[in-house]
Parts: sequence; C-alpha cells; structure tokens
Amino acid sequence: MARVFNFSAGPSVLPLSVLQKAAGELIEYGSAGMSVMEMSHRSKEYMTIITQAEALLRELMQVPDNYKVLFQQGGATLQFATIPMNLLTTFNRNADYIHTGIWSKKAIAECNRQGHARIAASSEAENFTRIPRQDELDLDPAAAYVHMTTNNTIFGTEFPYIPDVGDVPLVADMSSNIMSREMDVSKFGLIYAGAQKNLGPAGVTLVIIREDLLGRHAGLPLMLDYKVQAEKESMLNTPPTYGIYMLGLVLQWIKENGGIASIEKKNIHKAAKLYQAIDNNDFYCCPTEVESRSRMNVPFTLKNPDLDATFLAEAEQQGLMNLKGHRLSGGMRASIYNAMSEEGIDALIAFMEDFANRNG
Ligand SMILES: Cc1ncc(COP(=O)(O)O)c(C=O)c1O
Repeated sequence: MARVFNFSAGPSVLPLSVLQKAAGELIEYGSAGMSVMEMSHRSKEYMTIITQAEALLRELMQVPDNYKVLFQQGGATLQFATIPMNLLTTFNRNADYIHTGIWSKKAIAECNRQGHARIAASSEAENFTRIPRQDELDLDPAAAYVHMTTNNTIFGTEFPYIPDVGDVPLVADMSSNIMSREMDVSKFGLIYAGAQKNLGPAGVTLVIIREDLLGRHAGLPLMLDYKVQAEKESMLNTPPTYGIYMLGLVLQWIKENGGIASIEKKNIHKAAKLYQAIDNNDFYCCPTEVESRSRMNVPFTLKNPDLDATFLAEAEQQGLMNLKGHRLSGGMRASIYNAMSEEGIDALIAFMEDFANRNG
C-alpha cells in the first residue's frame, strides 16, 4: 500500500487507524450481520452509534448541558443561510459579521438575502492576510448575533483569540479548525462545521447551539429549523448515517491521542516547524501576519512563480499531494489538519529545502 501525504484543504486526510477500523467493519458491523450503511437509522445498533458519537463530542469539547448538538446536512454553506433564518428575528434583521476571507464573504451574502449584514471589521484591504484585533471590532450591541470564521482555510489565517462581543450571541464557522485547539464552547451561541477536514468525511455538518437561541423564528421549513432538529435529535429525516459513524471513529481517535489539548500541542509543533522552514529560507515567503497565522492551512509562495508547476509536479512524484494554493490566493498551501502526521511535515520540509537548493 502506498499512502501519500495528502495536504488537501478538504476533504482531507483521515487517520489511517480510523480507515482501517472502518474497513474491518465495512461488510459486517459487530455481529449485526450487515454494514452500518445498510442499517436503519432507527435500529438499536445505529442508535448506539449516534448516541455515542454525540456523547464523545460533548466530552471532548466539554459542551455545556444547555447546548444542543446536531448532525445536519448541506455543509457549512447551508448554515450560511440557516443561521440568519433562525437567528434574525421579526424585529431585528441586523447581524454583525467579521469579514476575514472568502467564506465570510459567502456567509455575508446569504445574510444579506434575508436581512442586513453589517461589517464589524474587515481585513479585505490587506488581502485577508491578517485577523482584525479585538480593539478594531466595531460591534453593534443591538445586533442579533456576531458572525466570525475561526480559521480561514483559503488565506491561512486563524483567530488567536475569541472575540469579546458582550451579550450578543457569537456565531462561529469552525469548519477548518474545529477540535484542533481547545475552545471554550460557552463563549459561543452557535458553532458550526462541515466535517470534511478535522471530523470525518464530507456529508455531515456539526451544529452546536445554545438552547435559548432555539425557536427565535417561527414558521421555518422544518429541515432548516434548529428547534425542530433539536427536538427530533437530528432524526427528522434519515441522517447521513455512515458519515456520523465515521465521525464517531475520528472522535475515538482524538480521545485515544490524549484529547483536544494533546492534539493542540502537536498542531502547534507541526505548524511551527513548517513556518520556520518557510521563514528561514528566502526562496519561500509566507504572506500572512505572524500573529494571525493558521495552524491548519499554511500558504506560501515561491520566489519565482515560474517554478510553481515544477514544484508541484516534483512534490507529487514524492507523494506530497494537493499543495497547490487556492485559485484566489495563488502559490502553495499545505493543509495540515489533525490527521497529518509529523512525518508528513518532515517530508514536505525536506522536499522544500532540496527544491530550493536545486533551483535557488
Ligand atoms: C471555513 C469554511 N467555511 C465553509 C466552507 C464550506 O463548506 P461546505 O463545502 O461544507 O459547504 C469551507 C470549505 O472549505 C470552509 O473552509
């Protein structure tokens, strides 16, 4: 078997032991005589799978009791619309958005279809190379909520702090750094994340919502109403059963690896190594402000962009895949989520040094 080092931004690398466990259980789960994929979502076996996944998630993230955990569909993109639908009220159609990249731009556009997204801060003028500081946030105390993107997958920036937004509910798109670092859930009104980076395969969207935010708006389509989804325990219709099972396996892997605190330490170490290799070599350049750098997505450029295609081709020959930067930011991007091993980082650094020596 020749597994490559997969630096894809998402869907992304999963822990090998998780894939192996899933492979071992693919055709028959336990003594059920069938695959998880073939089970009724209301069967006893499946109810145990989903209940355990939620319990483990609550344990690892220390989710307080007054929050609901929902497994939804439609990706983070559907949440861009579902959030204003649920959290804007008849009398308050205004929300604050901290604008830090393409994903916040999409979230803002969806909010503007339903109400008014006010920009509380933006780093667009600096090409999203940094995160606005707390003292730059111009917050409206009457906003229905404040929206942030904790990690900007495309531009490689990450909030080094949780904004203080007073009594206004803080809503966070954590798609690309969920469970990569400790986060105090009680500081947020709502957290959401597509699973396909740190939690499992695409198809499941995690929503964690404080109970007092349920039912702010009546008459929504049932599938898009958090209150209904919470009452039905994510079983209003058939949930993405296999994705939730895989998410449960990834959570077990996080637990076996010492929980989020331990994973965070490893992430700090892995990211520091890679940034250092970039900063110490003038063949490479990282465009982001040091304090705002993401531990999950590391963008960098080559001194001579004419060499980009050669760099990517040679990297692929060495099993270092998906390093091409997003089309909007150009250059390279190494996505180094929880499941990227230090061995993968070391292999990338060794290749980068060798490439620079031969082409510098
Ligand atoms: C931060 C962030 N938000 C939202 C999305 C969109 O997610 P989805 O494709 O699950 O709708 C992505 C996808 O990469 C992302 O990185």
